[in-house]
Amino acid sequence: MQIKDLKVLFTEEQLQNKVKELAERINQEYKSEELITICVLKGAVMFAVDLVKNLTMPVKMEFIRLSSYGSGTVSSGKVHAVDISLPDLNDKNVLIIEDIVDTGHTAKFLLDFINNNFKTKSTKFCSLLDKKISRAAEIEPDYYGFEIDDKFVVGYGLDFDGYFRNLKYIAYSDKV
Ligand code: IMP
Repeated sequence: MQIKDLKVLFTEEQLQNKVKELAERINQEYKSEELITICVLKGAVMFAVDLVKNLTMPVKMEFIRLSSYGSGTVSSGKVHAVDISLPDLNDKNVLIIEDIVDTGHTAKFLLDFINNNFKTKSTKFCSLLDKKISRAAEIEPDYYGFEIDDKFVVGYGLDFDGYFRNLKYIAYSDKV
């Protein structure tokens, strides 16, 4: 995949508007209740940083590192916890922030992990993108920004073989 072959799917402006829209919904839902956000590294980093900047309640940011893709464009279905150390989440409002829900295995793994280890006050899942058509696990994000087709996308945190995370927009290529 090369930068010259990329076609823009969502511009920087579309992404920033969507982030603000999602943050407003989250602000309305939690009002002034404290929220613990869990950013799933590395892909969700840009989205999580922009999202929390628009949240108005007291927020703590946690980061965990999972991987499922390897270096290809087809999900392996196996989720690998690289670093999943978290503080005590009992009685907390927890919001998991992801870049994309594809097969849903990662989301399910994380929700199960949290439910098996903590009795949270609430646990919700927010993903910028939702590839509903590829879903294999039974999971629906509580919030999502855009639904997309079965395309492999890069940019704004999303990578191909580690590259393109730094793009301000989200793009795809017909030539993988
Ligand atoms: P799932 O477990 O199949 O839902 O995949 C979730 C993870 O796979 C995401 O957090 C991404 O890191 C990665 N992923 C899924 N689809 C794409 C894509 O189109 N581009 C880049 N990464 C993707």
